[in-house]
Amino acid sequence: MTSHDQKYTAAGNELNASFLAAKKRSDEVLAKLDTHPGEFRMLTGDRPTGRLHLGHYFGSIKGRVEMQNRGVNTNIIIADYQVITDRDTTEHISDNVLNMVLDYMAAGIDPEKTMMFTHSAVPAENQLLLPFLSLVTEAELHRNPTVKSEMEASGHALTGLLLTYPVHQACDILFCKANVVPIGKDNLPHVEITRTIARRFNERYAPTNPVFPEPAAILSDAPEIPGLDGRKMSKSYGNSIMLGATAEETAKLIKKSPTDSERTITYDPVNRPQVSALLTTAALCSGREPEDIAAEIGAAGAGALKKYVIETVNEFLAPHRERRAELAKDMDSIRDILHDGNRRANEIAEATLDEVRSAMGMKY
Ligand code: TRP
Repeated sequence: MTSHDQKYTAAGNELNASFLAAKKRSDEVLAKLDTHPGEFRMLTGDRPTGRLHLGHYFGSIKGRVEMQNRGVNTNIIIADYQVITDRDTTEHISDNVLNMVLDYMAAGIDPEKTMMFTHSAVPAENQLLLPFLSLVTEAELHRNPTVKSEMEASGHALTGLLLTYPVHQACDILFCKANVVPIGKDNLPHVEITRTIARRFNERYAPTNPVFPEPAAILSDAPEIPGLDGRKMSKSYGNSIMLGATAEETAKLIKKSPTDSERTITYDPVNRPQVSALLTTAALCSGREPEDIAAEIGAAGAGALKKYVIETVNEFLAPHRERRAELAKDMDSIRDILHDGNRRANEIAEATLDEVRSAMGMKY
């Protein structure tokens, strides 16, 4: 259980009720997505704080590619302004952004179908922050459990941007009028505030002709892939398998991952989180059940398990890594793809901002 999850389950009935309502909405939308993909516009994104790993792939990127290929209008924001919500440097940011585009494309994102862009290149999107901030109270901002835990984890004082970035995330979602937002649980409060902002804007400025949809969060049922040490997969724990790492780097990381003193391999996530994390990783990459892999390895022990994990992970990632290396030969065209996404995002953002100004009577 991550600290975010704990917050969610411990925060009492109110949050649980809103989680259950969001989950129900998510399931309803997912059912409709299959039959009417053309009615949906998806927006989601990532913070360019480092390289994408296997957790990102199974947790979100795979689902984005599926939505794209089903005919949903798909959009991915590389949330560069969100990087400075809880850290005080933008070191390596352009490198991280370009590497994200590489990984998205290697994973099957098609820039003809999916718009990829960054915050910082779309001024009109950012400008929505001003009217949106007027629609929320300080108390509402302080109540956001994810902001609270991110502030605690950062060890710094709460900055103005950390407090308000959920409203900025509402700008990400609403500038292109997205109605579906695939996210992890920790981002649910941000989608909730987005719904509130859309509703309040429409009520206040556009009661007869609403400008914004109230988007639904899409909460995936996919099991969260743990890091190699059984904790949450996170760059800062050094327990993540990077999509773009070499086979050798991956083998080294898996070899040095901790296990326990019991020889026989069993799948028991509660009592044996480390061994179970290795089994889950191999299961996701091979399409097998973790229990079956455990039974097969059995008394051969952790060494044999690691050997199997190394093989399945590297085999699974080989085509991704091959495509990635091929794409990386021409970084100019990767930059062009991003520029094109930014250009399209600007067009959409300007049109939406224009509607917002009109609704607010700010056309002079
Ligand atoms: N906050 C998201 C994260 O967990 C990234 C993000 C930024 C995002 N803007 C978004 C997700 C809009 C969904 C919709 O890293």
